[in-house]
Amino acid sequence: MTRPDARAGRSLDGDWQVIVDPFDHGRIDYQSRPTEEFAAERVRTGPADRVEHEFSDQHTLSVPGDWNSQRDDLFYYEGAVWYRRTFDAPPAAGERAFLHFGGANRVARVWINGQFLGRHDLGFTPFEFEVTQHLRAGENAVVVSVDNRRAPDAVPGMMYDWWNYGGITRSVRLITVPETFVKTLHAGLDPLDPTRIAVRARIDGPDRGVPVRVEIPGLALSGAFTPGADGTVEAAFRVPDALERWSPERPMLYEVTLRAGTDTLSERVGFRTIETRGGDILLNGERVFLRGICIHEEAPDRPGRASGPKDAATLLGWAKDLGCNFVRLAHYPHNEAMARAADEMGLLVWAEVPVYWTLDYANPETLDQAKGHLREMVERDRSRASVIIWSVGNETGDAPERTEFRRALGAYAKELDPTRLLSAALFARQIRDEDGTLTRLHVDDPFGAVADVLSINEYVGWYHDQPEDILGVEVTLAWDKPFVISETGAGVKRGLRGDASEVWTEEFGVRFYEAQLAWAESVPLLDGISPWILKDFRSPRRPLYGVQDWYNRKGLIDETGQRKLVFDTVRSFYARWAEGGAAPNEKRP
Ligand code: GCU
Repeated sequence: MTRPDARAGRSLDGDWQVIVDPFDHGRIDYQSRPTEEFAAERVRTGPADRVEHEFSDQHTLSVPGDWNSQRDDLFYYEGAVWYRRTFDAPPAAGERAFLHFGGANRVARVWINGQFLGRHDLGFTPFEFEVTQHLRAGENAVVVSVDNRRAPDAVPGMMYDWWNYGGITRSVRLITVPETFVKTLHAGLDPLDPTRIAVRARIDGPDRGVPVRVEIPGLALSGAFTPGADGTVEAAFRVPDALERWSPERPMLYEVTLRAGTDTLSERVGFRTIETRGGDILLNGERVFLRGICIHEEAPDRPGRASGPKDAATLLGWAKDLGCNFVRLAHYPHNEAMARAADEMGLLVWAEVPVYWTLDYANPETLDQAKGHLREMVERDRSRASVIIWSVGNETGDAPERTEFRRALGAYAKELDPTRLLSAALFARQIRDEDGTLTRLHVDDPFGAVADVLSINEYVGWYHDQPEDILGVEVTLAWDKPFVISETGAGVKRGLRGDASEVWTEEFGVRFYEAQLAWAESVPLLDGISPWILKDFRSPRRPLYGVQDWYNRKGLIDETGQRKLVFDTVRSFYARWAEGGAAPNEKRP
């Protein structure tokens, strides 16, 4: 459903009663037979009652929010937590009601008034259930079990460098719509003919075939269109001369409104083209150099998961302060507010599914899960002008079954949305001379044959070599395609001062970025760079007491929102590169 935030209804955010359930007592009995112990409406009625569980206002968690950062006893918890809340929603005649979740990590099962609605196994994309038939006058009860346990056949898999935040991590909304309503609405420039605006929608309900009106008042465009038998609307308009294309410098958005019967839905859309030509990325036909930063979905001003427009505005505001025109939203679909904020603020976006390091690549169910992430991310964000790259992997390695997996995912991405560029964060081959000096980075990961943009993560000067060893390193590509450094970075403990030879010091960080970025502007093939990472983030792989304390410290900003010296180092390079909008390097003739 498009624009759940704008739909009539009510928020179900706030405190939910919870029961922590490490052994799935709420779902299976002592013989491991399925039960619905916690979801049923059977609750303890009094001290004599022998029910051994109850939801109570003394044990709650805030929604949206992960449980790890809300309760010390749940910091490391991987397991199931049951949530419950009630609401009064007398069903209104002629209306339909949906329970919409912005996201929950990882496996969510949902009941309403004791009736099982379904499950959703992906931890970073929205899901919803129609509840029209289940609502009752007076009090209604929603019960949700969320299980964040990792699984070897899941996406992501068992090993990753971010915290496994569990819970209902994004907003919940009870949405009410007319019997016939606009379920989805997407708009953009037609990639096959940028002189046309394409508007696609799905009308749902008994009157889905009735003609609809599409209006773009900012361009004085409107028209009536008749949906297909299945309720799909394909509308098109010639682009008027007055159209101002969207760009980071001029993030122009237009209201696109669709009226279907008594329902009206509007989207704010930017119109732009994105393509590659040889080794260049072209935005609206002009070469663009991506001055980026990577971002994990962590709140800027408190521990735990980010969510909502306020967090998005702060995080992307920091990226703008840095001088970015590009952000890489790693390593999974971020909450919906991020791409919407990027549209408004003028930032190009790399969006990614958590196909990360080692998965069960030979398992068709794992590929289905990866496709599910991609499908739900594209369905949600395909109208966002800011999103220019769909990434289907990060450092997966290039063994044959891994490449086959990524190829299948890449083909699926193109099938879902041929209008955007395809990439994945790859490893480069390190070529060294006889005394071990790094002389060349060669990009020939077989996924590069299907990618539109070649991207590599490189940590020359942090995980190996010294920072200055990157200077003079040549880059060669197995294909004539755009090339981006999708990650590079070094750990810095903010406030730790010392000699630039000492890792973790502020001085070492400055030394690292002065070398990396001086090198970057000398690489003739380069089309962009997104250092790792905007802000220090929680990771179960970073225990170093007194330095990391379960944070990955490659942020330009620390976990409390305080900037490190490296923030200014990167900013100074970006400011120089942005002068006159030129790229730091003259591309090959
Ligand atoms: C890898 C990986 C990141 C990780 C980073 C690091 O490239 O993509 O998820 O956090 O390097 O080692 O800090």
